[in-house]
Amino acid sequence: MVLNEGKIGNLKLKNRFVMLPTVTNLSNDGFVSEKGMDYYDRRSKDVALVIVEASYVNKFGKFFKNQLGIDDDDKIEGLKKISRYHSWQWWKSCSADCYAQP
Ligand SMILES: Cc1cc2nc3c(=O)[nH]c(=O)nc-3n(C[C@H](O)[C@H](O)[C@H](O)COP(=O)(O)O)c2cc1C
Repeated sequence: MVLNEGKIGNLKLKNRFVMLPTVTNLSNDGFVSEKGMDYYDRRSKDVALVIVEASYVNKFGKFFKNQLGIDDDDKIEGLKKISRYHSWQWWKSCSADCYAQP
């Protein structure tokens, strides 16, 4: 059952494993780091969906130094890399015609 394909709205998932968000402390003062990309790359190899760690949406909500930030446009480039990493892993693990781009 958990290895069967899953679906959330239009998003088709290769299986039904979803990774819980877990704080990593791997950002560089809020920005996605190489270590952070490696971390999400490794986790996304097998599970269908990864929920990204607790991230601050406003600088006043920042809780600790290396918490991931989604508070400003300057973070977008790094965050894109994480989502591309996921997409790349995801594309590699499914057949060409069976899934829609997340
Ligand atoms: C080390 C650690 C880090 C966690 N980081 C986050 C987080 O960043 N965001 C979040 O919403 N939950 C976080 N959690 C909570 C987990 O995602 C999960 O909800 C919790 O461990 C309960 O899981 P369970 O229902 O399987 O027992 C964290 C849990 C642990 C143990």
